[in-house]
Amino acid sequence: MKSVQKISETTQDRILEMDLSAELKHGVVVSNLAYDVAKELGLGEKECYQLAIAGMLHDIGKLKLEGYINGQEQNPMVIEELKYVRMHSTLGYEILKDQGYSDYVLESILYHHENFDGSGYPSNRSGKDIPMGARILRVCDVYAALSMDRPYRKALENDEVLRLMIDEIKNFDMQVFLAFQRVIHKGGNYGIKKETGYRNEGHFTEGNGNP
Ligand SMILES: [Fe+2]
Repeated sequence: MKSVQKISETTQDRILEMDLSAELKHGVVVSNLAYDVAKELGLGEKECYQLAIAGMLHDIGKLKLEGYINGQEQNPMVIEELKYVRMHSTLGYEILKDQGYSDYVLESILYHHENFDGSGYPSNRSGKDIPMGARILRVCDVYAALSMDRPYRKALENDEVLRLMIDEIKNFDMQVFLAFQRVIHKGGNYGIKKETGYRNEGHFTEGNGNP
């Protein structure tokens, strides 16, 4: 307990800064990948673009978890914290709901941790009751998370990421997963290091003319 209290503000700031940087990179990757998966599924340009926005913002609710981002391993209230972390999709929805975003973007964010078999959160929705945008984000989010360096492990190789995802296929809409696999196998140029996974020029940046 003492050691947690003694962490200096400077140290806490540094930890938080590193996490924010990783979160931003993660958002860009999910955004670009979600756009391409939506395109592969034959969705219209407007919907693809909404997915790019939702992908960038999907974890914004974590901003309200900053007290938990710092030193949570030492906190004795681990179970309570986990419950709180699981609120981030709802918190994200709350942050954005009066900011002019479409229902499509808001629902994609609210349900991006729902699993296809009904084991996710916050509402235990299953199958087609989960909005399509959220089903797409679910797949892209997991891929991006496993494909990037984390403080506690290095980025996994692409084959390993796909193998782990297939092990957890119950979480995903198969139609979305197959489209995602096709996108990944096409390769491209992207925000993840080349040898690890999928890259592209970005749909949420100026690179291809999109805002
Ligand atoms: Fe999330």
